Amino acid sequence: MAQILGGIGTSHVPTIGLAFDKGKQQDPDWQPLFKGYEVVAQWLAEKKPDVLFFCFNDHATTFFFDHYPTFALGVSDEYRIADEGTGPRRIPPLKGHAALARHVARALVDDEFDLSVFQDLPLDHGVHSPLTLMWPSQPDWPGRVVPLFVNVLQEPQPKPSRCYKLGQALRRAVESYPENLKVAMVGTGGLSHQMIGERAGFNNEKWDLEFLDLIDRDPERLAKMSLEDFMRLGGNEGAEVVMWLIMRGALSANVRKLHQSYYLPSMTALATLVYENEAAEPRTEATEEYLDHVHRQLAGIEKLEGTYPFTIETSVRAYRLNKFLHDLVEPARRQRFLSDPEAAFGEAGLSEEERDMVRRRDWRAMIHYGVIFFMLEKLGAVVGVSNLHIYAAMRGQSLEDFQKTRNAQVLYSVAGDQSHVPWEQGK
Ligand code: FE2
Repeated sequence: MAQILGGIGTSHVPTIGLAFDKGKQQDPDWQPLFKGYEVVAQWLAEKKPDVLFFCFNDHATTFFFDHYPTFALGVSDEYRIADEGTGPRRIPPLKGHAALARHVARALVDDEFDLSVFQDLPLDHGVHSPLTLMWPSQPDWPGRVVPLFVNVLQEPQPKPSRCYKLGQALRRAVESYPENLKVAMVGTGGLSHQMIGERAGFNNEKWDLEFLDLIDRDPERLAKMSLEDFMRLGGNEGAEVVMWLIMRGALSANVRKLHQSYYLPSMTALATLVYENEAAEPRTEATEEYLDHVHRQLAGIEKLEGTYPFTIETSVRAYRLNKFLHDLVEPARRQRFLSDPEAAFGEAGLSEEERDMVRRRDWRAMIHYGVIFFMLEKLGAVVGVSNLHIYAAMRGQSLEDFQKTRNAQVLYSVAGDQSHVPWEQGK
């Protein structure tokens, strides 16, 4: 079973990653900061976790306000480094532990944390800025990450108690993963700082030290506080420390504090800490019961003939083809596909198998492959095929035979402009 070794708390300001890249380790202004990370790096080098479970917030880099999730879990095998304005940092892409992430997603949703999942998105400094000070990135990262995005930017945000409970749910989820994996939880953000308005430059060392004490001894007290409490005491942006509560919630009630550092060079109080778990081995019966519960919703679905639930596995596996078909909602992509399909296939990097299914409009094969139905109906709309044709083809029937099973013999598709579809032309 997977085991949580302990937890790390760390600030995630971009400046620490940039100071690292510029080799400022001995610079007197930065030296206390790097010193704080030495023990963290040493602990990771000794314990060799397979996975760092990273609770972080994105800084309106990858996630923007056109669609802003509350909690979003990365389920990719790999994460590009985001470009935050002048090109990405020169560090290798992060490796993800996709199987653990899928298990955690399923377990959390079963535990009524209905989080979203993401793939094919780059990660910003919220993850990689502290990571480079803790884990060697050259020649390549020594392990994998599972990134958990948390909304700490736009109201309404998850409240502190929700973050703490999410951590507790995460512990159950991670510790029920059947593979023997060593996992370390990472909570990022803070400590006190404020970047906005007339209060810009606000810090509160007294509160920071109290926070570091409470997260150890009495996290439940922190969980009972409001976001306004955190903003008043730690500054507008300093309230992001609620992400430490997720990390702390995932640890045992009693933890062993191995390390703590605190340094306030400029705008943000920079802190690190390392906890080791004092948890016993999880009980096998409890884990089995938990896993039964997690898998109950779709238990037996494989016996339902001709039915293919769209799982995260399917979504990741068939992402390229689904994305190609989804792009047909853009007029330029649609035109390219209609005028030169082979060129469009090539630009999207489709495999020969994928191209062949689209060329032949093999609706059944595409469903078996992992294309979601709503991409089939978009393709249908673009090439002038009705939904009814697609349903009939998936069943292996002629349109006429399938129509006999319907109460009304109508044809339709999702094409917004129906003036050119063949069935409106009497064809
Ligand atoms: Fe932040």
